[in-house]
Amino acid sequence: MKSPTTDSKPIYLPSDAIQKRAYIASLDEYLEIYNASIKDPVKFWEKIATDFFWKTKPAGPFLNYNFDLNKGNIFIKWMEGATTNICYNLVDKTIQDGYGDKIAYYWEGNEPGEQKQITYQALLKAICKCANVLKGLGIKKGDRVAIYMPNTIEAIVAMLSCARIGAVHVVVFAGFSANALAERIIAAQAKLLITADGTFRGTKFIALKSIATQALMQCKGAGHPVSHCIMLKHLHTTQQIPEIPWDDAIDCAWERLMASASEVCAPEWVDGEDPLFILYTSGSTGKPKGVLHTTGGYLLYTATVFKYVFDYHPEDIFFCSGDLGWITGHTFNVYGALACKSTSVVFDGIPTYPDGGRFWDLIDRYKVTTFYTAPTAIRTLMQLPVSYVTKYSRASLRILGSVGEPIDPSSWRWFYEVVGSSRCPIIDTFWQTETGAPIICPLPGSTPLKPGSATLPFWGIVATIVDEDGIEIIGRGKGHLVIKNPWPGMARTIDGDHQRFQATYFEPYHGYYYTGDGAQRDADGYFWITGRTDDMLNCSGHLISTAEIESVLMQHPSVAEAAAVSALHAIKGESIHCFIVLKQEQLYNEIMESEIKSIIRNQIGAFAVPDLIQPVPALPKVGSGKIMRRLLRKIVRQEGHLGDTSTLVDPNSIDQLRGLILNKAKML
Ligand code: WTA
Repeated sequence: MKSPTTDSKPIYLPSDAIQKRAYIASLDEYLEIYNASIKDPVKFWEKIATDFFWKTKPAGPFLNYNFDLNKGNIFIKWMEGATTNICYNLVDKTIQDGYGDKIAYYWEGNEPGEQKQITYQALLKAICKCANVLKGLGIKKGDRVAIYMPNTIEAIVAMLSCARIGAVHVVVFAGFSANALAERIIAAQAKLLITADGTFRGTKFIALKSIATQALMQCKGAGHPVSHCIMLKHLHTTQQIPEIPWDDAIDCAWERLMASASEVCAPEWVDGEDPLFILYTSGSTGKPKGVLHTTGGYLLYTATVFKYVFDYHPEDIFFCSGDLGWITGHTFNVYGALACKSTSVVFDGIPTYPDGGRFWDLIDRYKVTTFYTAPTAIRTLMQLPVSYVTKYSRASLRILGSVGEPIDPSSWRWFYEVVGSSRCPIIDTFWQTETGAPIICPLPGSTPLKPGSATLPFWGIVATIVDEDGIEIIGRGKGHLVIKNPWPGMARTIDGDHQRFQATYFEPYHGYYYTGDGAQRDADGYFWITGRTDDMLNCSGHLISTAEIESVLMQHPSVAEAAAVSALHAIKGESIHCFIVLKQEQLYNEIMESEIKSIIRNQIGAFAVPDLIQPVPALPKVGSGKIMRRLLRKIVRQEGHLGDTSTLVDPNSIDQLRGLILNKAKML
């Protein structure tokens, strides 16, 4: 239902049908709970904790923290001293509650017809077997296990088997290169790697085991040998693939190990604050950050968000198109979902293969009620003939969700009107790897929606905006998005570098968690995320830092200097544009361009390959030598006014640069 607002932006009110079934059916109810959660967070989360099993209660306070660097080091502890096991809560407890025969996952592979399903009971057996396999290979509580796998049930089994024995999983997205994988294995000091022979993404083959083997050789060379590499056979025998490298000294077959492992494995009781996983995300200094999440708080927060943000009822079918290699997959394909006894669809493919109807076909066949995807996928699919959507029934859908970047109002409306037939609320969820789960987002039955706004803070989150000086802006305004208080699902540290954790999130604005995003708050208190304010690019929902790309560009022997910035892109949201200054007497040509692109593909991954590489005589710099990326960004975005350029060493160089870039842009 649509109704006009005072500022003439349309508002979409929850429909009667959605409200009737919703846990929270009015804005007043949301507000009442919100206020209670802010007033007494301990009481609020303590009550939620009673839904789960704790072997022992917290030894000390339920929450203990310092959020202000002026008062000392930052720390956040929820339920320290309480013991539990997250895998036990998600799976064993669900079975005890009578859901053993319920389907936990429907899995659909890249090729239509590749299907599997698994019940909670069968999931538990597989997890226990895998946990025993890991124990048999010497993995103990606190050890790190790297997972580099396709989006499969087996990857989820691997993650949960780590959780079962108190090991810490480090999932690396299966689109990362050997280098990036090795860097993460070494940084996390992972003892073991679980991978697969390979996978197809659309028609593209990804040689996972070959990449893994290369990465492990690099790890060994760097003095960090990994004891074992378990390989799942994921490909069908009819598929033509290159030979798979195998070394009996470390490689083991998943199937062989699982066949002989016991189906019973007692859970390891761990502390509420023991690490659950590390997930690497880009950092603005170039080195990825190992974001560390702990057990108890993450369980409470992800379960609560999943239940209320998706208004999840046990008969619903949830489909999140995100990959397990990102936080979206961790939180919504695994932890939050299973904590709510859900049935989920896990998909290992791309939205346009074999054709642009793939998502809608899945929704139709599995009778999906809740579909969660990213704006970049929406923008890709809305370019295609609408018949790809309308050919399939979407009658089962109740709720649509979006994550990863701001969703522009026209994509929002296409998602709402075409996919959801104007029946399903669009839940635009703002969050980060570090926040564990959404922190600003609507609730389906209670929040009036404004296309393009992630709306209001979730329970327990005190979000606000501050100006450049860190002064809080009250009411309407534009500033840096910060959070004033700890919530259970937030990251506790950057693995092995607490200093960097403090410097990145707590140093910029004392007393606040700094998101790195800009936001506008309107007169109704709604947040409109305007994008990163730091040196990060958000390309197809993947965060990459300018420094990360620049350091790789510099590896080309002809490149003297480099700067990377983001341009606006109709599908990817942002695309990467690079400027390079060549060493003396070097000439730029197509060969050099493809060499540079291949270095980026090998060092980071295909998703980071720039759309444009522009050789320039010089980069715009201020006196201290700092590159003014802000100017480059404005030029590639063709924003007319560049602002103050007086601090530039050579202000005239800008016109020359602008001419070069406009010419190139015309040719793209
Ligand atoms: C961006 C992904 C606007 C934002 C879960 C954030 C969004 C970064 C939204 C985190 C949204 C994510 N609206 N921007 N709904 N969701 N972002 O760590 O810039 O991969 O800081 O986590 O994505 O990306 P990350």
